[in-house]
Amino acid sequence: MILLDGKKISEEVKQEIAQEVNQMVASGQKRPNLAVIMVGDEGASATYVASKIKTCREVGFDSTDIHYPASVTEEEVLQKIRKINTDPTIDGLIVQLPLPKHISESKVIETIDYRKDVDGFHPINTGRMAMGLPSYLPATPAGIIEMLRRYNIETDGKNCVVLGRSNIVGTPISLLMSRKANPGNATVTICHSRTQNLKAVCAQADILIVAIGQPEFVTADMVKPGAVVIDVGIHRMPSTETKSGFKLKGDVKFDEVAPKSSYITPVPGGVGLMTIICLLQNTLLAAQKKIYP
Ligand code: GUN
Repeated sequence: MILLDGKKISEEVKQEIAQEVNQMVASGQKRPNLAVIMVGDEGASATYVASKIKTCREVGFDSTDIHYPASVTEEEVLQKIRKINTDPTIDGLIVQLPLPKHISESKVIETIDYRKDVDGFHPINTGRMAMGLPSYLPATPAGIIEMLRRYNIETDGKNCVVLGRSNIVGTPISLLMSRKANPGNATVTICHSRTQNLKAVCAQADILIVAIGQPEFVTADMVKPGAVVIDVGIHRMPSTETKSGFKLKGDVKFDEVAPKSSYITPVPGGVGLMTIICLLQNTLLAAQKKIYP
């Protein structure tokens, strides 16, 4: 079994991005600038946003951190987005999800200029991705693809089973795994809450990608010997083993699945770190106007 080391790979990509930024600055260009809007104080979101801002600094990006209380109106957020859309100093904009119930996520996403939509959530980017046209790829699926690429994992002709059909992970990763590309060219099955014989379907997977949002859902009996297992889940679980009283767990029961798999992502230290780095990769592409000249 080989651990897919998100820390190592994300460090490599981070160095590559930092080098590009140095070259941009040396040639008189401005630093890429990512704007992050967060609404409310949801604990997990605050942690993710803090990591995104910190990683921006580490690669030499500027960042613009905008934080509203949960009571902010939808219109106020939309107005801010419109202002950033026309602000030439900002290259990329993300609005951290989830949002409070009174703010429409789809309205927010559709208000972002697709050329600054470095989360790749705007329907224009989603549609272009589905058609195989240049677009910003959503960061978590892009991170998974980058890991598979850097570990030279064969995907061509393999059976890939995706657990979960969210707009952020399950749906886009299934498109990317099935497209005519490397990594890609897999035969993809998407499983969800209505799937019958879920365990049997999972057990057919050469590559199992789990983004179901339930701690330790995947057990050893669901995994084919030698499978590649990608765990997108991240859950803060009470634990007596740690000083903090918490331990991070994935959607996969790591201890029993790892010995059966050929490659597996740990939690933490797997996909999560790749997500942030792919967001920064998109921001670099935005600053360089590589996708939309
Ligand atoms: N919430 C969970 N994942 C993401 C993400 O990739 N982007 C944003 N904006 N919000 C998220």
